[in-house]
Amino acid sequence: MLFFQQDCIEGARAHLADDSVDLIITDPPYGIEGDQLHRHYNRDESFVLDGYVEVPKSEYPEFSRQWIREAERVLKPGGAMYIVSGYTNLIHILNALAETSLKEVNHLIWKFNFGVYTKKKYISSHYHILYYVKPGAEPTFNTFCRFSDTEKNDDNGGGLNYQDREDVWTINREYKPGKIKNKNELPTQLLSKIIQYSSHEGDLVCDFFLGSFSTAKVAIGLGRRACGFEKSPIAFAHQIQEMAHVVPGEMLEQLRKPPENQYFNQGKPLTDDERAVIIRRYAELRQSGKTKKAAIEILGIEMGRGPWSLARIINLNG
Ligand SMILES: C[S@@+](CC[C@H](N)C(=O)[O-])C[C@H]1O[C@@H](n2cnc3c(N)ncnc32)[C@H](O)[C@@H]1O
Repeated sequence: MLFFQQDCIEGARAHLADDSVDLIITDPPYGIEGDQLHRHYNRDESFVLDGYVEVPKSEYPEFSRQWIREAERVLKPGGAMYIVSGYTNLIHILNALAETSLKEVNHLIWKFNFGVYTKKKYISSHYHILYYVKPGAEPTFNTFCRFSDTEKNDDNGGGLNYQDREDVWTINREYKPGKIKNKNELPTQLLSKIIQYSSHEGDLVCDFFLGSFSTAKVAIGLGRRACGFEKSPIAFAHQIQEMAHVVPGEMLEQLRKPPENQYFNQGKPLTDDERAVIIRRYAELRQSGKTKKAAIEILGIEMGRGPWSLARIINLNG
């Protein structure tokens, strides 16, 4: 059994060995006194599971320190952790992370729909996602798992891989009318993106605060293994039954399969012969009437090298 109805700090100490987890994705309780979450999206509260366990604001710094220390311990060297946090207690999470050996990779912003409506100030519609890795081994980052190196966005001509890896993500929350859910269920699209970039099939993905088990459901759906903790007996009892219906790997078929990368020589040392071919061929293309941009694009495909390195070679040559 990999899921425990238990406090995650005690649970991690009891059940998770040092250096055993490949990826942690987690969304800790908010530590906001006076729960206003029902205002988030005008929803029917009768479908929100009772029993969400909060942490008093005064305990938040120590609570964050303790669970983040456990997360650091159980991650494998090179393992990654993504923590989703609002801005209210972000400082305590950042301070706790600063006390560990974990290294910041990105501070992502997730922009969502259904922000809390306010009249006298700006509407809050983002979360922070803190992406850290444990030193000691090369982290998993599957750069081309979703878009290959030359695919373009038809709407604006931008590179799809570049755009997908920008650090501001606009992903809508899922609207699930009539379905029982946790107070703040993470969207499948968001979880799938993190799991695709930062893990391999068969890896162990852990969520310290399972809520509706959304991380576990997507991880198993994508052929990973999953584990985690949820303190609320009500949420746990409901969701553990749902887990029985999740079929391992069932989401893999639906994933977009990017075409092969075109820049197959990227990162390889450039030989003098190759440099001479690039310069000669570029001159030919320009003489045939191609613009600089078009010539570099054609050269990129022919030579298997990215536009920046080609432009550098051509510019150096005058
Ligand atoms: C923000 S929610 C997680 C939502 C989840 N990511 C989802 O998509 O449904 C935080 C969850 O942590 C649980 N929780 C609070 N304190 C906990 C603790 N010490 N150990 C384990 N779970 C806890 C809460 O009951 C709540 O379900």
